[in-house]
Amino acid sequence: MKVTVVGAGAVGASCAEYIAIKNFASEVVLLDIKEGYAEGKAMDLMQTASLNSFDTAITGTTGDYSRTAHSDIAVITSGIPRKPGMTREELIGINAGIVKTVASNLLKHSPNVTLIVVSNPMDTMTYLVHKSTNLPKNKIIGMGGALDSARFKYRLAEALKAPISDIDGMVIGGHSDTGMVPLASHATRNSVKVSEFLNEERLHQVVEDTKVGGATLTKLLGTSAWYAPGAAVSALVQAIACDQKKMFPCSVLLEGEYGLRDICIGVPVLLGKNGIEKIVEIKLSDAEKAKMQESAVGVRNTNGLLEV
Ligand code: LAC
Repeated sequence: MKVTVVGAGAVGASCAEYIAIKNFASEVVLLDIKEGYAEGKAMDLMQTASLNSFDTAITGTTGDYSRTAHSDIAVITSGIPRKPGMTREELIGINAGIVKTVASNLLKHSPNVTLIVVSNPMDTMTYLVHKSTNLPKNKIIGMGGALDSARFKYRLAEALKAPISDIDGMVIGGHSDTGMVPLASHATRNSVKVSEFLNEERLHQVVEDTKVGGATLTKLLGTSAWYAPGAAVSALVQAIACDQKKMFPCSVLLEGEYGLRDICIGVPVLLGKNGIEKIVEIKLSDAEKAKMQESAVGVRNTNGLLEV
């Protein structure tokens, strides 16, 4: 199993680290355009191998895509991250060109690769990869919902004063401060609805804190987060690499599911060796349906800024 991670910045390096620590991939290639940077991160990570007990071989390259040849899975983290006060949508001008070039370069050397898109604005970048490559739709996956759901579970556990392993919950919709749809009515603590433990006001607060989860961290860190994004990517990569058939919300091309088409937006999917093996249509309340449609309007507005 060969995995390429394009972009050796904080998110890309975290992805490589978590993938390696889980020890399911034989090879991870880190690629960056900054001279020596990916090589340095790869070497530093490899010097953790004996300490962290993994056998994954991590190598780095400055822009040589031939080194990524025959990758099974490739993760695109390239582009600029947001600064405090910026929305993910404001990154489109710079990141669209970068993501399109990276996808095209990857496919020259790995025509059968499964792509995981992380660069922001993520739903629109995932759509751009659909429009600019001829990869089948099951092989183009946007990472947002897995991260947003992890942040939702963190906020729920905090509100409930419960261990996170007790909590289950999911965030669908666009990966943006206004577009996320945390499914509060479906969230549970050990199969008991969280609404049994939290009043409406507290639950509303959890939902709002979840939606600005990335922005809160960007403000604290001065740039966007990396540990949870890296961990979320590694969970998706593992689900595909190990054919786990696990369910995650991911940004995928919809063709009528959830009443939407010609858009990439977060919905629950099953991930296995074929990438997206199934789009799972769950029953939403009328309020959740309305929020999903509203979220789709926001994603379409951003898609409208693309020049494809
Ligand atoms: C975040 C970035 C990865 O939400 O979009 O932290």
